[in-house]
Amino acid sequence: MKKYKIMSVFGTRPEAIKMAPLVKELGKYDDLESICCLTGQHREMLDSVMEIFKLQADFDLNIMEKRQTLSTITTKTLLGMERVMEQCKPDMILVHGDTSTTFAGALAAFYHQVPVGHVEAGLRTYDKYSPFPEEMNRTLVGDIADLHFSPTRANAENLRRESVAGEVFITGNTAIDAMGYTVKADRKFQDELLNRLDFEHHRIIAVTCHRRENYGKPMEDVMSAIAEVVRTHEDVEVVYPVHLSPVVRECAQKYLGGKERIHLIDPLDVEEMHNLLARCFMVMTDSGGLQEEAPALGKPVLVMRRETERPEAIAAGTAKLAGVTYEGVLAEANRLLDDSAAYQAMAKAVNPYGDGHACRRIAQAIRWHFGLTDERPADFLAE
Ligand code: UD1
Ligand code: UDP
Repeated sequence: MKKYKIMSVFGTRPEAIKMAPLVKELGKYDDLESICCLTGQHREMLDSVMEIFKLQADFDLNIMEKRQTLSTITTKTLLGMERVMEQCKPDMILVHGDTSTTFAGALAAFYHQVPVGHVEAGLRTYDKYSPFPEEMNRTLVGDIADLHFSPTRANAENLRRESVAGEVFITGNTAIDAMGYTVKADRKFQDELLNRLDFEHHRIIAVTCHRRENYGKPMEDVMSAIAEVVRTHEDVEVVYPVHLSPVVRECAQKYLGGKERIHLIDPLDVEEMHNLLARCFMVMTDSGGLQEEAPALGKPVLVMRRETERPEAIAAGTAKLAGVTYEGVLAEANRLLDDSAAYQAMAKAVNPYGDGHACRRIAQAIRWHFGLTDERPADFLAE
């Protein structure tokens, strides 16, 4: 029996977290061979996810450089993929989301005329430069892909409106599948600082901030606002695992370093991070993934961006766009801290992004595409 070679290509932390459960799911079928190709756009932050999910790479392009540019990521991935494609001859390439790895991986597949499946397809702001370069990456991959795995109905509608070629499936987001592996109510943290935190008497805010379009003044303003929030609330502590990007680290150190009740720590492994989210008071972030995970855990999210391609949690009332000005972020954070009715209204667990079965639907869609099953997967329907 022919085994179809399905090669998942990914390179950054969020892609790895959201592709890991899919790589595992694809490995369960006798008629598929699940192959894992890392670009290594991230290194430490990627390896940590591979370890937690106990995954081995079949190929690793190892492209990361300090302060890398968009051009180096794209060109090194494209060149590296030449050899991999020759050697592996996959039947389908899967890419995830909107990073430079995603775009270059899909383009490499196209150059070799290999079909592409796009996981987390159809998210849009329709603003070319925000998020930058992600909006353009995912739009271009939408044109290349043959199978589009949209987390939500609204994402699928974007693609249908754009009349993309290929099949669109509504699968839910694999981030929620990943949390099925990581979140455990009785888990002890490995990290000493997390173990010492008093989640009962202190209000712990989990913070992350890394987006390229926030570099410079927006990031400085956001961080100054966070410093002010902590200064004016004695029972508030911030835990901020700082992204390894030197640009982000310099900014975080300058505005938040050495301050009482603000813990700037190294990136947490995904198991620690998800369990921190499960226990914290609220989340302040510009991350995409955290906007999906926190609502599933009943945690209010302040989104420190001008826009978001994830409107579902805002519509459900668990996330709020706080913007990137000092005044805006300060006001929204103070509201949640000082007005318990406002907090309670946002602190409800909803799951517009998934039911934990996205990977199963994606695997079924791939098998359906290759004629290995007659059943097209049923759509994920949000609660
Ligand atoms: C990338 C993605 C972004 C995604 C983010 C997730 C692009 C253009 N951007 O942005 O969409 O939201 O990942 O985190 O694809 N670094 C390390 N070790 C690591 C990871 C990063 O040292 O494990 C440092 C390196 O100096 C690297 C820099 O961080 O040059 C920036 O990494 P890069 O992937 O270019 O950008 P991100 O901001 O991480
Ligand atoms: N995350 C993590 N450790 C950290 C910070 C984040 O494991 O120290 C996880 C987080 O829970 C989410 C993902 O990384 O699953 C989000 O990645 P990131 O914010 O880097 O990228 P984005 O989602 O914005 O593309």
